[in-house]
Amino acid sequence: MDAARELHRLASGYQVTQAIHVAARLGISDVLADGPRSVAELAAATKTDAQALTRLMHALTVLGLYSVSADRYENTELGAALRSEAPRSLAGWARFIGRGSHWQAYTGLEDSIRTGTTAFPAMHGEPVWEYRAKRPEEQAAFDAAMTSASDGLAEAVVTAYDFGRFATVVDIGGGHGRLLNAILTRYPAVNGVLFDQPDVVAGAGTGRFEVVGGNFFESVPVGDALVLKSVIHDWADAESIDILRVCRRSLPADGRLLLVEQLLDRSPDPLRTAFADLNMLIMTGGRERTTDEYRTLLAAADLELVDTVSTASMPFVIEAAATR
Ligand SMILES: C[S@@+](CC[C@H](N)C(=O)[O-])C[C@H]1O[C@@H](n2cnc3c(N)ncnc32)[C@H](O)[C@@H]1O
Repeated sequence: MDAARELHRLASGYQVTQAIHVAARLGISDVLADGPRSVAELAAATKTDAQALTRLMHALTVLGLYSVSADRYENTELGAALRSEAPRSLAGWARFIGRGSHWQAYTGLEDSIRTGTTAFPAMHGEPVWEYRAKRPEEQAAFDAAMTSASDGLAEAVVTAYDFGRFATVVDIGGGHGRLLNAILTRYPAVNGVLFDQPDVVAGAGTGRFEVVGGNFFESVPVGDALVLKSVIHDWADAESIDILRVCRRSLPADGRLLLVEQLLDRSPDPLRTAFADLNMLIMTGGRERTTDEYRTLLAAADLELVDTVSTASMPFVIEAAATR
């Protein structure tokens, strides 16, 4: 291995993020879904400068998203995964991860490492949830990113864990209901409740579930299964315990609280989990955790970790029951 060359490639990774982000925002893979196109045709379709676009397409072709033959570009398998309508599309995630607000927060990584504080509020003047709630475009980009990142995960979760034993599943902080929809499709006898901030559930559309807006620091709907997917990792320990205690109040004695989260000690993709953890440090003040760290958090809210179920994807289902 040429260490300097490899390190150069890794250290320049932010350029790749931005190139793929712009490709997703311009919808290049969507245009190419209809067949090969010249740069002139792509530039007309995306309303961009043909010469500058040629340079971007060159970089993306070297990266492996597109191939070129007789001056016409085509989607490769990677490029096709960036189509908006692709199964397990990465378009929403790519459109989000390079956005200015997220991007700038990452320039605060050094401060976060030096001080242990969360970069996003230091930079933008308020916590990320309040920032997004006031800015519909930011909120929509984030919600679409969550849906994009959750596609495929949801199927893996409903395949690995039997939700059919429950009467009512409440998806707490459920976003637009991607996981809940997958649960209800797979287990038709189950009733579903989608719970999230009022502004978020307003964008959820209609599904075969009841929609409730609210604040999980105050109260959550009752159900014999309370699911929190990618929620607890957003919060530091003290807030996480507050949320879990509120959930505990809505959990019947024989109910189950189900955290759907990555585990630092059992990740199938340790690089992705390690960076998910840095993401939490910078954006939300939360963290990715080990199995034992989740066990300790749950215990502080009178909940006992009873099982961890692996899935074919990144997250585990961490099953907990009330201890009293
Ligand atoms: C990382 S997202 C996860 C969304 C979804 N569960 C998923 O995995 O795609 C965290 C969710 O928590 C919601 N949330 C944040 N603060 C909340 C609060 N105080 N009450 C209810 N929901 C909240 C956000 O709106 C967001 O949808």
